[in-house]
Amino acid sequence: MKILIFAGSLRVDSVNKKNAREAVRLTSELGAEAEFIDLRDYPMPPYDGDIEAQGIPEIVKKLSAKIAAVDALIISTPEYNASIPGTLKNVIDWLSRDKPVTMNDKHLLLLAASPGMFGGMRALWHSRQPFEQLGVHVYPEMLGLKDAYNAFDASGKLKDDKGLKTLIEKFIKHVGK
Ligand SMILES: Cc1cc2nc3c(=O)[nH]c(=O)nc-3n(C[C@H](O)[C@H](O)[C@H](O)COP(=O)(O)O)c2cc1C
Repeated sequence: MKILIFAGSLRVDSVNKKNAREAVRLTSELGAEAEFIDLRDYPMPPYDGDIEAQGIPEIVKKLSAKIAAVDALIISTPEYNASIPGTLKNVIDWLSRDKPVTMNDKHLLLLAASPGMFGGMRALWHSRQPFEQLGVHVYPEMLGLKDAYNAFDASGKLKDDKGLKTLIEKFIKHVGK
């Protein structure tokens, strides 16, 4: 089983990238093949129909192809203004224009990380909607990491990874059914 894992944040010190990298470690430990990608390596312009009219950008096709090659995705998203960050929504919008949409019928586990006490829960609920619109099977359970600036040790490991490990284990079993 192959799982592609990334964060909906671009910045180098992103807690969502740390969370995504921890998801890679745990997924591998649980016996599935995990690959981390950084959205910085997939720079997409803000969606613009005039750009699309000249052809889907190669970088969009590259990410579409990566998604086509896996069974499932795990995404850790920040929460911006109580919702999905524009960076992630822009990626979803571009991917939805490259037909056939490779996310369709894939499984997705949604995670979030936030320094606040709600763990990005509102971003999780708002993120479900565009993915489900594209026929993605979003796993019913989601996990928001609260107080995320204090949740990782100096090496980037989660101080307490039990909740994430249990959830990924359930997700892997579900995808394998
Ligand atoms: C434009 C903007 C809006 C934000 N809105 C929220 C919010 O609604 N809820 C929240 O928990 N954090 C909010 N934050 C704080 C982010 O959770 C914080 O910057 C976090 O570190 C972003 O994730 P990252 O570390 O993975 O980049 C916001 C940050 C920015 C830049």
